[in-house]
Amino acid sequence: MKILIAYATTEGQTHKICKTIAEQVAEYGHQVELLDTARKRRDIHTGDFDAFIVAASVHQEKHQDEIEVFVAASKEVLSAKPALFISVSLAAAFEEKIPDANSYVADFIDRTGWTPAHSLIVAGAVRSEEYDYFQQQILEHVVLGDRDDFQPDEAQEFTDWAELTKAVGKFVSGIEKQKRGQT
Ligand SMILES: Cc1cc2nc3c(=O)[nH]c(=O)nc-3n(C[C@H](O)[C@H](O)[C@H](O)COP(=O)(O)O)c2cc1C
Repeated sequence: MKILIAYATTEGQTHKICKTIAEQVAEYGHQVELLDTARKRRDIHTGDFDAFIVAASVHQEKHQDEIEVFVAASKEVLSAKPALFISVSLAAAFEEKIPDANSYVADFIDRTGWTPAHSLIVAGAVRSEEYDYFQQQILEHVVLGDRDDFQPDEAQEFTDWAELTKAVGKFVSGIEKQKRGQT
């Protein structure tokens, strides 16, 4: 199978996640293409792929514009073929903020008009050394609220790699099963 992983990343965690997924999917023996939707590429045709993983991260309660453009342009094929949407956020790292993480996905569906057959919320990372004062303020006061068990002035990765591997494995084996059923 040919699988396209299209992603948007601002500080790099979603890119890291997608690279890891690409290695996993390639190990299963499938062909994988990674597409950074912020880069203008004319050589990628979504119609050439059998399945899709679309991933983006959340900043100020919204996924990147470029992933919305990609989805808007590819909606038909994304709806016709197996697709998994991965939303990377900090909210997904904290039990009581899971409703927020789910609401970012619901907003994405509203904004793009694409309802992915499969979706996953994944905890991202804090890369404090890369933030300016305002980004740090947003993270501390808007995203984390009054949590006192975590200080976002140090870099920290919250992504649960084992869970992610399991979820991607399940998605891919589901498609393989479906394909076998068709032949
Ligand atoms: C300025 C800023 C705003 C953010 N806003 C949100 C937010 O509204 N909700 C949330 O859950 N996470 C928020 N985050 C956390 C990011 O989603 C998290 O750091 C993620 O790992 C970023 O992924 P990326 O490196 O692929 O861009 C924000 C991070 C920054 C730096």
